[in-house]
Amino acid sequence: MKDQILRLLREDETVVSGEMLSNELGVSRVSIWKHIRKLQDVGYPIESTAKGYRLLRDADALHPWEFAGRSEKIHFFPEISSTMDVALDFARGGADHFTVVIADRQNKGRGRLKRQWFSDTGGLYFTLILRPVISSAYSGRINFAAALDMCRALEELFSLDAVVKWPNDVLVNGKKICGILSQMECEDEAVAFINVGMGLNVNNNPVNEESRATSVSELLGKNVSRKELLCRFLDIFQERFKSAQWDRVMDEWKKRTISLNRKARVVTVKEIVEGKAVDVDESGALILALADGSRKRILYGDCFH
Ligand code: BTN
Repeated sequence: MKDQILRLLREDETVVSGEMLSNELGVSRVSIWKHIRKLQDVGYPIESTAKGYRLLRDADALHPWEFAGRSEKIHFFPEISSTMDVALDFARGGADHFTVVIADRQNKGRGRLKRQWFSDTGGLYFTLILRPVISSAYSGRINFAAALDMCRALEELFSLDAVVKWPNDVLVNGKKICGILSQMECEDEAVAFINVGMGLNVNNNPVNEESRATSVSELLGKNVSRKELLCRFLDIFQERFKSAQWDRVMDEWKKRTISLNRKARVVTVKEIVEGKAVDVDESGALILALADGSRKRILYGDCFH
Protein backbone atom coordinates (compact mmCIF):
# COMPACT_ATOMS: atom_id res chain seq x y z
CA MET A 1 0.00 0.00 0.00
CA LYS A 2 2.82 2.44 0.88
CA ASP A 3 4.38 2.03 -2.55
CA GLN A 4 1.02 2.77 -4.19
CA ILE A 5 0.38 5.87 -2.08
CA LEU A 6 3.88 7.12 -2.91
CA ARG A 7 3.31 6.43 -6.61
CA LEU A 8 0.16 8.57 -6.62
CA LEU A 9 1.82 11.37 -4.62
CA ARG A 10 4.81 11.31 -6.97
CA GLU A 11 2.57 11.50 -10.03
CA ASP A 12 0.93 14.68 -8.80
CA GLU A 13 2.97 17.62 -7.53
CA THR A 14 -0.11 19.38 -6.16
CA VAL A 15 -2.22 18.29 -3.21
CA VAL A 16 -3.82 14.86 -3.52
CA SER A 17 -6.98 14.46 -1.48
CA GLY A 18 -7.49 11.61 0.96
CA GLU A 19 -10.73 10.84 -0.87
CA MET A 20 -8.97 10.46 -4.22
CA LEU A 21 -6.33 8.17 -2.66
CA SER A 22 -8.98 6.11 -0.92
CA ASN A 23 -11.10 5.72 -4.09
CA GLU A 24 -8.10 4.92 -6.26
CA LEU A 25 -6.64 2.36 -3.87
CA GLY A 26 -9.90 0.88 -2.59
CA VAL A 27 -9.21 1.42 1.13
CA SER A 28 -10.73 3.73 3.72
CA ARG A 29 -9.50 7.29 4.28
CA VAL A 30 -8.51 6.29 7.81
CA SER A 31 -6.31 3.57 6.40
CA ILE A 32 -4.71 6.08 3.98
CA TRP A 33 -4.13 8.45 6.86
CA LYS A 34 -2.43 5.69 8.91
CA HIS A 35 -0.09 4.80 6.06
CA ILE A 36 0.74 8.48 5.53
CA ARG A 37 1.55 8.84 9.24
CA LYS A 38 3.90 5.85 9.01
CA LEU A 39 5.59 7.33 5.94
CA GLN A 40 6.00 10.67 7.72
CA ASP A 41 7.41 8.88 10.76
CA VAL A 42 10.13 7.21 8.71
CA GLY A 43 11.13 10.50 7.12
CA TYR A 44 9.06 11.14 4.00
CA PRO A 45 8.36 14.90 3.77
CA ILE A 46 4.60 14.64 3.22
CA GLU A 47 2.61 17.78 3.99
CA SER A 48 -0.82 17.02 5.33
CA THR A 49 -3.55 19.69 5.29
CA ALA A 50 -7.37 19.77 5.30
CA LYS A 51 -7.23 19.51 1.48
CA GLY A 52 -5.10 16.41 1.39
CA TYR A 53 -1.47 15.33 1.08
CA ARG A 54 1.54 16.59 -0.86
CA LEU A 55 5.00 15.10 -1.20
CA LEU A 56 7.28 18.12 -0.76
CA ARG A 57 10.37 16.56 -2.29
CA ASP A 58 11.39 13.03 -3.13
CA ALA A 59 13.25 11.49 -0.20
CA ASP A 60 16.14 9.25 -1.26
CA ALA A 61 14.58 6.43 0.72
CA LEU A 62 15.71 2.80 0.77
CA HIS A 63 12.71 1.19 2.44
CA PRO A 64 11.53 -2.19 1.11
CA TRP A 65 8.41 -0.74 -0.54
CA GLU A 66 10.71 1.40 -2.78
CA PHE A 67 11.97 -1.77 -4.48
CA ALA A 68 9.07 -3.06 -6.56
CA GLY A 69 9.45 -6.76 -7.29
CA ARG A 70 12.16 -7.23 -4.65
CA SER A 71 10.63 -5.74 -1.53
CA GLU A 72 10.39 -9.05 0.34
CA LYS A 73 14.14 -9.51 0.23
CA ILE A 74 15.03 -5.96 1.22
CA HIS A 75 15.79 -5.18 4.88
CA PHE A 76 16.38 -1.54 5.69
CA PHE A 77 17.74 -0.09 8.94
CA PRO A 78 18.15 3.64 9.67
CA GLU A 79 21.25 2.91 11.80
CA ILE A 80 23.01 -0.30 12.78
CA SER A 81 26.53 -1.38 13.69
CA SER A 82 27.32 -2.91 10.31
CA THR A 83 25.23 -4.51 7.58
CA MET A 84 27.78 -7.36 7.76
CA ASP A 85 26.69 -8.20 11.33
CA VAL A 86 22.98 -8.25 10.52
CA ALA A 87 23.46 -10.10 7.23
CA LEU A 88 25.53 -12.77 9.01
CA ASP A 89 22.65 -13.44 11.42
CA PHE A 90 20.18 -13.50 8.54
CA ALA A 91 22.32 -15.85 6.44
CA ARG A 92 22.87 -18.25 9.36
CA GLY A 93 19.12 -18.11 9.93
CA GLY A 94 18.53 -19.31 6.35
CA ALA A 95 17.86 -16.03 4.48
CA ASP A 96 17.31 -16.48 0.75
CA HIS A 97 19.77 -15.90 -2.05
CA PHE A 98 19.82 -12.19 -3.00
CA THR A 99 18.52 -10.93 0.34
CA VAL A 100 19.79 -7.38 0.83
CA VAL A 101 20.54 -5.69 4.17
CA ILE A 102 20.78 -1.90 3.83
CA ALA A 103 21.66 0.78 6.38
CA ASP A 104 21.37 4.55 6.12
CA ARG A 105 24.23 4.76 8.60
CA GLN A 106 26.58 2.28 10.25
CA ASN A 107 28.20 3.10 13.56
CA LYS A 108 30.75 0.27 13.28
CA GLY A 109 31.17 0.06 9.52
CA ARG A 110 33.98 -2.35 8.64
CA GLY A 111 36.57 -2.10 5.90
CA ARG A 112 39.08 -4.65 4.69
CA LEU A 113 42.15 -5.52 6.74
CA LYS A 114 40.35 -4.61 9.98
CA ARG A 115 39.93 -0.98 8.98
CA GLN A 116 36.97 1.14 9.89
CA TRP A 117 34.55 2.18 7.15
CA PHE A 118 33.10 5.59 7.95
CA SER A 119 29.44 5.39 7.05
CA ASP A 120 27.77 8.73 7.24
CA THR A 121 24.34 9.61 5.83
CA GLY A 122 24.20 9.89 2.07
CA GLY A 123 26.36 6.86 1.31
CA LEU A 124 25.03 3.53 0.15
CA TYR A 125 25.87 0.70 2.56
CA PHE A 126 24.53 -2.76 1.96
CA THR A 127 25.34 -6.46 2.25
CA LEU A 128 24.02 -8.94 -0.25
CA ILE A 129 23.47 -12.52 0.91
CA LEU A 130 24.38 -14.94 -1.86
CA ARG A 131 24.10 -18.69 -2.11
CA PRO A 132 26.08 -19.41 -5.26
CA VAL A 133 26.69 -22.83 -6.71
CA ILE A 134 30.45 -22.47 -6.91
CA SER A 135 33.42 -24.23 -5.39
CA SER A 136 34.92 -22.35 -2.45
CA ALA A 137 38.25 -22.26 -4.35
CA TYR A 138 36.70 -19.91 -6.91
CA SER A 139 34.32 -18.02 -4.65
CA GLY A 140 36.57 -14.95 -4.81
CA ARG A 141 35.33 -14.40 -8.34
CA ILE A 142 32.02 -13.29 -6.90
CA ASN A 143 33.67 -10.22 -5.35
CA PHE A 144 35.50 -9.44 -8.57
CA ALA A 145 32.21 -9.73 -10.44
CA ALA A 146 30.46 -7.45 -7.94
CA ALA A 147 33.12 -4.76 -8.49
CA LEU A 148 32.75 -5.10 -12.28
CA ASP A 149 28.98 -4.86 -12.10
CA MET A 150 29.12 -1.79 -9.88
CA CYS A 151 31.39 -0.21 -12.53
CA ARG A 152 28.74 -0.99 -15.13
CA ALA A 153 25.96 0.49 -13.01
CA LEU A 154 27.97 3.71 -12.47
CA GLU A 155 28.77 3.87 -16.16
CA GLU A 156 25.23 3.21 -17.39
CA LEU A 157 23.47 5.56 -14.98
CA PHE A 158 25.94 8.41 -14.66
CA SER A 159 28.42 7.94 -17.53
CA LEU A 160 31.24 7.62 -15.00
CA ASP A 161 34.42 6.01 -16.23
CA ALA A 162 34.81 3.42 -13.46
CA VAL A 163 37.75 1.02 -13.19
CA VAL A 164 38.81 -1.68 -10.75
CA LYS A 165 41.92 -1.86 -8.56
CA TRP A 166 43.07 -5.14 -7.08
CA PRO A 167 41.41 -6.76 -5.39
CA ASN A 168 37.93 -5.23 -5.41
CA ASP A 169 38.07 -1.45 -5.25
CA VAL A 170 36.14 0.66 -7.72
CA LEU A 171 37.81 3.93 -8.71
CA VAL A 172 36.83 6.93 -10.77
CA ASN A 173 39.50 9.46 -11.79
CA GLY A 174 42.02 7.51 -9.71
CA LYS A 175 39.97 7.91 -6.52
CA LYS A 176 38.08 5.23 -4.63
CA ILE A 177 34.31 5.38 -4.90
CA CYS A 178 33.37 1.88 -3.70
CA GLY A 179 34.87 -0.75 -1.42
CA ILE A 180 33.89 -4.38 -1.00
CA LEU A 181 34.19 -6.67 2.00
CA SER A 182 32.97 -10.24 1.98
CA GLN A 183 32.39 -13.04 4.42
CA MET A 184 31.84 -16.66 3.52
CA GLU A 185 30.75 -19.84 5.28
CA CYS A 186 31.20 -23.29 3.77
CA GLU A 187 29.75 -26.72 4.31
CA ASP A 188 32.40 -29.23 3.30
CA GLU A 189 33.79 -27.92 -0.01
CA ALA A 190 30.59 -26.14 -0.99
CA VAL A 191 29.76 -22.54 -0.24
CA ALA A 192 26.83 -22.20 2.18
CA PHE A 193 26.69 -18.44 1.68
CA ILE A 194 28.81 -15.47 0.74
CA ASN A 195 27.86 -12.09 2.11
CA VAL A 196 29.15 -9.32 -0.10
CA GLY A 197 29.22 -5.93 1.62
CA MET A 198 29.53 -2.85 -0.53
CA GLY A 199 30.14 0.71 0.61
CA LEU A 200 29.57 3.37 -2.01
CA ASN A 201 30.24 7.04 -1.74
CA VAL A 202 27.13 8.52 -3.28
CA ASN A 203 25.86 11.74 -1.68
CA ASN A 204 28.24 11.68 1.30
CA ASN A 205 31.59 13.30 1.89
CA PRO A 206 33.90 10.30 1.88
CA VAL A 207 36.47 9.73 4.57
CA ASN A 208 39.06 7.25 3.53
CA GLU A 209 42.31 6.24 5.12
CA GLU A 210 43.99 6.44 1.74
CA SER A 211 42.55 9.99 1.56
CA ARG A 212 42.08 9.46 -2.14
CA ALA A 213 38.35 9.02 -2.24
CA THR A 214 35.53 10.55 -4.22
CA SER A 215 31.75 10.32 -4.40
CA VAL A 216 29.13 10.32 -7.15
CA SER A 217 27.80 13.71 -6.01
CA GLU A 218 31.30 15.22 -6.03
CA LEU A 219 31.89 13.95 -9.55
CA LEU A 220 28.50 15.03 -10.93
CA GLY A 221 28.03 18.19 -8.88
CA LYS A 222 24.58 17.05 -7.71
CA ASN A 223 22.95 14.45 -5.50
CA VAL A 224 21.63 11.29 -7.11
CA SER A 225 19.22 8.51 -6.16
CA ARG A 226 20.89 5.74 -4.14
CA LYS A 227 17.85 3.57 -4.78
CA GLU A 228 18.27 3.85 -8.53
CA LEU A 229 21.94 2.95 -8.25
CA LEU A 230 21.26 -0.04 -6.01
CA CYS A 231 18.44 -1.30 -8.27
CA ARG A 232 20.59 -1.04 -11.38
CA PHE A 233 23.46 -2.86 -9.67
CA LEU A 234 21.16 -5.64 -8.40
CA ASP A 235 19.63 -6.09 -11.86
CA ILE A 236 23.01 -6.37 -13.55
CA PHE A 237 24.42 -8.67 -10.87
CA GLN A 238 21.36 -10.89 -10.93
CA GLU A 239 21.71 -11.27 -14.69
CA ARG A 240 25.28 -12.40 -14.14
CA PHE A 241 24.08 -15.02 -11.66
CA LYS A 242 21.58 -16.29 -14.19
CA SER A 243 24.27 -16.71 -16.83
CA ALA A 244 26.66 -18.21 -14.21
CA GLN A 245 29.69 -17.74 -16.45
CA TRP A 246 32.10 -17.48 -13.57
CA ASP A 247 35.03 -18.68 -15.68
CA ARG A 248 34.89 -15.42 -17.68
CA VAL A 249 35.07 -13.05 -14.72
CA MET A 250 38.83 -12.76 -14.39
CA ASP A 251 39.29 -11.98 -18.10
CA GLU A 252 36.65 -9.31 -17.89
CA TRP A 253 38.33 -7.94 -14.76
CA LYS A 254 41.70 -7.75 -16.51
CA LYS A 255 40.15 -5.55 -19.20
CA ARG A 256 38.84 -3.08 -16.62
CA THR A 257 41.72 -2.92 -14.17
CA ILE A 258 44.40 -0.32 -13.59
CA SER A 259 46.37 -2.75 -11.42
CA LEU A 260 48.28 -4.75 -14.02
CA ASN A 261 51.62 -4.14 -15.73
CA ARG A 262 52.72 -1.53 -13.27
CA LYS A 263 54.67 -1.25 -10.05
CA ALA A 264 52.75 -2.20 -6.97
CA ARG A 265 53.27 -2.17 -3.23
CA VAL A 266 51.02 -4.71 -1.59
CA VAL A 267 50.28 -4.55 2.11
CA THR A 268 49.10 -7.83 3.63
CA VAL A 269 48.45 -8.67 7.27
CA LYS A 270 51.96 -10.16 7.51
CA GLU A 271 54.20 -8.15 5.21
CA ILE A 272 54.69 -5.48 2.58
CA VAL A 273 55.76 -6.73 -0.84
CA GLU A 274 56.94 -4.62 -3.76
CA GLY A 275 57.23 -5.61 -7.38
CA LYS A 276 55.55 -5.38 -10.73
CA ALA A 277 51.94 -6.61 -10.89
CA VAL A 278 51.94 -8.92 -13.89
CA ASP A 279 48.77 -11.00 -13.60
CA VAL A 280 45.85 -12.22 -11.53
CA ASP A 281 45.17 -15.94 -11.52
CA GLU A 282 41.86 -17.77 -11.75
CA SER A 283 41.26 -17.54 -8.02
CA GLY A 284 41.89 -13.78 -8.05
CA ALA A 285 45.38 -13.85 -6.50
CA LEU A 286 47.75 -11.09 -7.63
CA ILE A 287 51.00 -12.23 -9.22
CA LEU A 288 53.93 -9.93 -8.50
CA ALA A 289 57.25 -10.13 -10.33
CA LEU A 290 59.91 -9.33 -7.73
CA ALA A 291 63.26 -7.60 -8.25
CA ASP A 292 65.16 -10.90 -7.79
CA GLY A 293 63.30 -12.41 -10.75
CA SER A 294 60.99 -14.60 -8.68
CA ARG A 295 57.20 -14.41 -8.65
CA LYS A 296 54.97 -14.07 -5.65
CA ARG A 297 51.30 -14.96 -5.46
CA ILE A 298 49.31 -12.79 -3.07
CA LEU A 299 45.82 -13.81 -2.05
CA TYR A 300 44.72 -10.99 0.19
CA GLY A 301 45.97 -7.47 0.73
CA ASP A 302 45.82 -3.86 -0.29
CA CYS A 303 47.51 -2.66 -3.40
CA PHE A 304 49.13 0.74 -3.97
CA HIS A 305 50.45 1.91 -7.30
C1 BTN B 1 37.11 -1.71 1.94
O1 BTN B 1 37.87 -1.64 2.90
O2 BTN B 1 37.41 -1.23 0.84
C2 BTN B 1 35.79 -2.44 2.05
C3 BTN B 1 34.71 -1.53 2.56
C4 BTN B 1 33.37 -2.23 2.67
C5 BTN B 1 32.32 -1.34 3.32
C6 BTN B 1 30.95 -1.96 3.29
S1 BTN B 1 29.69 -0.83 3.74
C7 BTN B 1 28.53 -2.13 3.79
C8 BTN B 1 29.23 -3.29 4.45
N1 BTN B 1 29.15 -3.16 5.88
C9 BTN B 1 30.34 -2.94 6.43
O3 BTN B 1 30.54 -2.80 7.66
N2 BTN B 1 31.29 -2.96 5.50
C10 BTN B 1 30.74 -3.17 4.18
